[in-house]
Amino acid sequence: MSFCNAVVLITGGSAGIGAATAEVFAKEGASLAIVGRNKEKLNAVAKRCQELGAKTLTIVADLTKDEEADSIVKKTIDEFGKLNVLVNNAGIFRQSGIMADEFLTSFDEVMNTNIRAPVRITRSAVPSLIETKGNIVNVSSIAGTNVNRPTFIAYKTSKAALNHFTRCVAFELAPHGVRVNSVSPGPTRTNIFEGSTVNADTLLEKTALLRVSDPVEIADLILYVASDKAKSITGSNYIIDNGSMLK
Ligand SMILES: NC(=O)c1ccc[n+]([C@@H]2O[C@H](COP(=O)([O-])OP(=O)(O)OC[C@H]3O[C@@H](n4cnc5c(N)ncnc54)[C@H](OP(=O)(O)O)[C@@H]3O)[C@@H](O)[C@H]2O)c1
Repeated sequence: MSFCNAVVLITGGSAGIGAATAEVFAKEGASLAIVGRNKEKLNAVAKRCQELGAKTLTIVADLTKDEEADSIVKKTIDEFGKLNVLVNNAGIFRQSGIMADEFLTSFDEVMNTNIRAPVRITRSAVPSLIETKGNIVNVSSIAGTNVNRPTFIAYKTSKAALNHFTRCVAFELAPHGVRVNSVSPGPTRTNIFEGSTVNADTLLEKTALLRVSDPVEIADLILYVASDKAKSITGSNYIIDNGSMLK
């Protein structure tokens, strides 16, 4: 599954699933552009990727700011000359009920990060992906499919939108030879739930296998979906959730 000579752009590459994804692509020989707001964390991930032999570009950007989201593909092309794979991974989780005073503020924050940013980045990446017959992997969530927690409205709505965006863009880009898929993790051990009433361990009991994933497990699936081994797969949503959806 070699990615030698491939250029991979990963948003949210400074932590969690995005950082693990950068490392698995680095091991397969890809050149990487990794994006996040935290420069120190990005540099630490870049160092690990470079130790694995990867050329690495770090891009500090807040993807909720249109001009910063729009700049990341150009910066990647300026550095590496092309783009083969876009991984729209950056995302946030917020908890708020529909009747809460802060609901709309929280809703806008989540929608801007989890769906508006991937839409903008996809638009700017498409011409380059058509040139390389590349592909997109959107990191969604089982939250985009299930409805089991009342205060997760914004997050679940954003991921349902991302799932449908994935299918619609897959259909439009298929004639151009560009594949578009999503990967939907269940509970995974990262910092995304900080500040909320849940964490990966409280969600463990919701899984059929009674286990929570490590980020590298999600990264390995992203790698597969982005690879030529998955050349017949487009418009699909791959659930990787330790059986959470069974309960
Ligand atoms: N962990 C889980 O249980 C789980 C389950 C299902 C789906 N997911 C999905 O997996 C993806 C990755 O999440 P994670 O669990 O790895 O969380 P994480 O450890 O909190 O990492 C989130 C990443 O997104 C970046 N990010 C967030 N807002 C950003 C912004 N405005 N601009 C640029 N970068 C931004 C963060 O970078 P900076 O802080 O440097 O900006 C960080 O690199 C998300 O889409 C999430 O919804 C996670």
